[in-house]
Amino acid sequence: MGQGLTVVVLAAGEGKRFRSALPKPLHPLAGRPLLWHVLAAAAPLKADRTVVVVGNAADQVTAAVEGFDLGPVRFAVQSAQRGTGDALAAALPLLDAAGDVLVLSGDTPLVSPALLEGLLDRHRSARAAATLLTCVLDDPDGYGRVLRDGAGAVTGVVEQRDATPAQRAIGEVNAGMYVFRRAVLDRLAELRPDNDQGECYLPDLVPLVLTGGGGVATHPGPEEEVRGVNDRVELAEAGAVLRLRLLERLMLAGVTVVDPASTYVDADVEVGQDTVLAPLTFLEAGTRVGSRCRLGPNVRLVGCTVGDDATVAQSVALQSTIGPRAVVGPFASLRPGSELGEASKVGTFVEVKQSTIGPGSKVPHLSYVGDADIGARVNVGAGTVFVNYDGVDKHRTSVGDGAFIGSDTMLVAPVTIGDGAQTAAGSTITKNVPPDALAIERSDQRTIEGWAARRRRKRETRE
Ligand code: UD1
Ligand code: CA
Repeated sequence: MGQGLTVVVLAAGEGKRFRSALPKPLHPLAGRPLLWHVLAAAAPLKADRTVVVVGNAADQVTAAVEGFDLGPVRFAVQSAQRGTGDALAAALPLLDAAGDVLVLSGDTPLVSPALLEGLLDRHRSARAAATLLTCVLDDPDGYGRVLRDGAGAVTGVVEQRDATPAQRAIGEVNAGMYVFRRAVLDRLAELRPDNDQGECYLPDLVPLVLTGGGGVATHPGPEEEVRGVNDRVELAEAGAVLRLRLLERLMLAGVTVVDPASTYVDADVEVGQDTVLAPLTFLEAGTRVGSRCRLGPNVRLVGCTVGDDATVAQSVALQSTIGPRAVVGPFASLRPGSELGEASKVGTFVEVKQSTIGPGSKVPHLSYVGDADIGARVNVGAGTVFVNYDGVDKHRTSVGDGAFIGSDTMLVAPVTIGDGAQTAAGSTITKNVPPDALAIERSDQRTIEGWAARRRRKRETRE
């Protein structure tokens, strides 16, 4: 494909029904903006040119689209939102003089590349001047209805608010996705705002194409792909459809999803074969998970990389790396910049931030590891705190390979613990500890013989 094709996405509308300060095209679905999904569906068509029509919150929408990873996009500005026909007219100066123009709405994120290819194929094989994507819905409420003559040929589209009761009974709707021969778009200038909303409607081009002698074809699409997102109820419904689709793709690629209804993955997530996702697993923002991992229940990974054979349970990790065979949780919190080496362990009630934990090292319980560089095969005892903040500045702590940090050690940064060194339980370490040394910092224990027994007797005589 590709020869002589331009894609135009209409995204200038106000999205009133969203009642939101965030522009509608930027509302996320499976971690990506609505508009991203539309452009992603069109990307495999390899159009010569892609144009997005912006208007409402144009700067914000333009900036967001420029950050997408989907190839070059040009922008046309519709200065006032005078309807979908007017929006497409705003893109005309950016179009070639010939070829086909695929027009999409910024609010139909469920459409697939295959359906768009089918629409284009239909348009080309029918040698049509215009081809509409249509769908027969049980509940066509809110959509424009497709009008046909006695012979079944399309004659136009009527919006619900302009429709007669008889027209409202029609189940076949306009999906708001079209292919036009470039030449017929010159007639956009003839559209008139003679409808309930006082807007220039793009579907009104159909009768103009017909009077000009052009053929109008239709291509049917499945309801699951044509549904528009006009409010947040439809946003949630589209999210559910998309999520299941993403999970099915993972399952068919060899990932076990124990309960798809309670598992949430973003559009850009990768998971390796034979990994098991237990219920309430959330994989977000480009998280990549290796093979044979066990994630969940109750795990949220945001922008993380997880190596093969790792285990994460009941934990949250942000922008972190979890090495192969590492074990995380239950109840661990990995904040940004946590790098866990191969076969390392971050256990129960442990928080890690901006730290490296070397291969085979273990922080099994109740610790805070902040701004630390921990070598290999280190054991960090329960209750250890890497005291990284002096109230003004943050400092780093370094722990050498094979070191043993006794339980309840306070490591007051900046401080360095040498390879193979140990700290005694309950010590507050403020000075560097050389390799293989023991650092002990606590007062000597006083033991008073018989003290407890005497106290007990005193209580008993009083009673
Ligand atoms: C539109 C169709 C309707 C179809 C439905 C399918 C028209 C008049 N109606 O209705 O037949 O059944 O889609 O989902 O086309 N936009 C602009 N500028 C504007 C107005 C809209 O760029 O001035 C953009 C919007 O941002 C949106 C798209 O066009 O992405 C569709 O607009 P919307 O208001 O959602 O149209 P619908 O009422 O859903
Ligand atoms: Ca819409």
